[in-house]
Amino acid sequence: MVDKKFVVTPWEVTGEVDYERLIRDFGTQPIAGPLAKRLEEILGDSAYIVRRQVFFSHRDLNLVFEDYNKGKGFFLYTGRGPSGPMHIGHILSFYFTKWLQDKFHANVYIQMTDDEKFLEEKRSLTYEETQKWAQDNILEVAAVGFDPDKTFIFQDTELVGHAYPLILKIARRVNYSTAKSVFGFTGETNIGMSFYPAIQIIPSLFEKKRCLIPSGIDQDPYWRIQRDIAEPLGYHKAAAIHSKFLPPLTGIQDKMSSSKPETAIYLNDDDKTVRNKIYRHAFSGGQASVEEHRKLGGNPDIDVPFQWLYMFFEPNDKRIEEIRSEYKSGQMLTGDLKDLLVEKVTKFLGEHRERREKAKAQVHLFKKDGALAREMWKRDFSKS
Ligand code: TYM
Repeated sequence: MVDKKFVVTPWEVTGEVDYERLIRDFGTQPIAGPLAKRLEEILGDSAYIVRRQVFFSHRDLNLVFEDYNKGKGFFLYTGRGPSGPMHIGHILSFYFTKWLQDKFHANVYIQMTDDEKFLEEKRSLTYEETQKWAQDNILEVAAVGFDPDKTFIFQDTELVGHAYPLILKIARRVNYSTAKSVFGFTGETNIGMSFYPAIQIIPSLFEKKRCLIPSGIDQDPYWRIQRDIAEPLGYHKAAAIHSKFLPPLTGIQDKMSSSKPETAIYLNDDDKTVRNKIYRHAFSGGQASVEEHRKLGGNPDIDVPFQWLYMFFEPNDKRIEEIRSEYKSGQMLTGDLKDLLVEKVTKFLGEHRERREKAKAQVHLFKKDGALAREMWKRDFSKS
């Protein structure tokens, strides 16, 4: 979706995103009413992320719950394009997926799209670089704490061969006009990119159960195509649950980018870098001087430290509303708000770092050397 004020495509998110407009234009549903209540009850301590509308939109989540209640179960699928170090925005959907796995004990499939990131020409990554980032990013994902017995992390270039027959069945059903209108491909797009959607769709067909895909809403165009072709191939239409985007640290006029490291906080940033980025670069909704701030107060709606606390780092509802009102009234200064964020982010990254160290010895459990994939795909291909 490209608008005058914002862009949301699977490869680019910039500007002030109008999420209601995306729900309308993408044809998804808001998470609201009894469905939202149900999800909040299930999530327990993590429910704030739904209550605050960070995960705000869905497709067929009600059917996922129905299948679960009937004992049919469902599975989860999410992914990452390994184009560089992962930032805090990237890891949001992974933590959310883990929370769902904890509650439902569902299988989780995690796709590392090293192929996609090599094909995306504007990134100019060599094949070797995509392989290096895939290894790095797999470790970040393993550090989230998924259940190793129920989680399968795979790199497209390593494992996709086993899935090729089914990928071909998907590819034959998606014509070029659809791919052009959904993804904006042009005559300049390389032919690898036009085939790639079949690869991102395949994990949604890994089991003959309904698949629930948590992701940022930028990835939804793939699920739209999946939903056209899945049933004729004998599978379920994918269900999805979409998040908003954590804004760039430097404000929405920017874009989180590895070429401008101050726009994001990376999972491998050390405490000093985190402090430096937040104090020096975080976009503030505060006034120009302390006197003015005390008089007029700050604007939490545009203040990035507040938005980051609200969307992820401060789960306590009472506390976040106190922070909002103290900041608005001018009682809390920009520096105080930044202190709060620094404390939360360094604690979160410290814990993540520890889990990443431990994950080094565990990563093979998630990759499973393809054995699980082969077994699963053999079973499903024989039926399709
Ligand atoms: P990628 O690597 O661009 O992004 C990984 C995940 O992070 C989400 N995301 C964000 N979420 C919140 N705030 C942000 N600022 C932010 N930036 C990115 C993305 O929406 C995504 O969920 N093609 C995909 C890889 C992929 C995938 C999937 C993603 C393959 N299969 C299934 C989700 C679900 C990609 O390049 O994601």
